[in-house]
Amino acid sequence: MNLYQMIFKRRSIRKFKKDQVPEQLLKDILYFGDNIPRLHGDIQIKLEISENMEEHLPVKGLWKVEAPYYLVFYSEEKEGYLTNAGYVLEHVLLYMTGKGLGTCYLGSTKVPVPGPAGMKQVIVVAFGYPKTLLYRDPATAKRLPLKELCVFKEEAGESMKNILKAVRLAPSAMNTQPWRFIVYHDKIYVFSCREFLPSSSLVSMREISAGIMLSHLTIAAEEMWINVKLEAEEAMEKKSYKSGAYVTTAFLKEYKC
Ligand SMILES: Cc1cc2nc3c(=O)[nH]c(=O)nc-3n(C[C@H](O)[C@H](O)[C@H](O)COP(=O)(O)O)c2cc1C
Repeated sequence: MNLYQMIFKRRSIRKFKKDQVPEQLLKDILYFGDNIPRLHGDIQIKLEISENMEEHLPVKGLWKVEAPYYLVFYSEEKEGYLTNAGYVLEHVLLYMTGKGLGTCYLGSTKVPVPGPAGMKQVIVVAFGYPKTLLYRDPATAKRLPLKELCVFKEEAGESMKNILKAVRLAPSAMNTQPWRFIVYHDKIYVFSCREFLPSSSLVSMREISAGIMLSHLTIAAEEMWINVKLEAEEAMEKKSYKSGAYVTTAFLKEYKC
């Protein structure tokens, strides 16, 4: 199954078996992460896996999850690094789901390992073979309906609807779904919702979540044979918005032979 199909099956897993993940699969996960497209190619990132089969790692964090493995995401702190982190990691988590592994993002958890010089530990993912059901029926996912997430300015075609269905299922910190969309037949204006409590950690979580959502958008567009260009428009950035902030515009164009 491909990443697009995994979007409709993945759910967060918080209980794991203490089973070893084959060494080759651990290598494949890191290799996959190193080779997928980025939102910002100029930002250096690094993925590392910390094994915790004996529960020896003093993992710290609010809402942490005990797991036999942690995937740790490091990045340079440059503009856009949080959104880039969510974008890259969601590809990796969908890949892992397809390999039978359960995963859970841990936004405010730290794994106390040194990590690469000059990089920050951005987010951690608990993973391993699941004790609970790995897949779910997408109809059971708790998400806002598209009519609450989108304002449709023009009629959406079949491909656009499929892209929006994939975007709707994107996981977010505390399932807040901090995004809204203005939809035309060939473009989507993406907005992020303002935090009620604008603490820096909530803002960080929102930006990582936005990257996850954009990964669903591009994965689904690719599946529909639609070329997508994400570009922030200057005129949109200059305007002020009542309940959120403009993030980017997704310009969609069908591939033509
Ligand atoms: C950026 C981010 C941070 C998250 N942090 C945590 C966390 O600290 N603890 C936790 O149990 N789940 C965490 N989650 C998982 C979300 O709660 C979960 O994705 C959301 O409730 C939707 O559920 P689902 O993934 O099963 O669809 C996080 C998710 C994201 C995207």
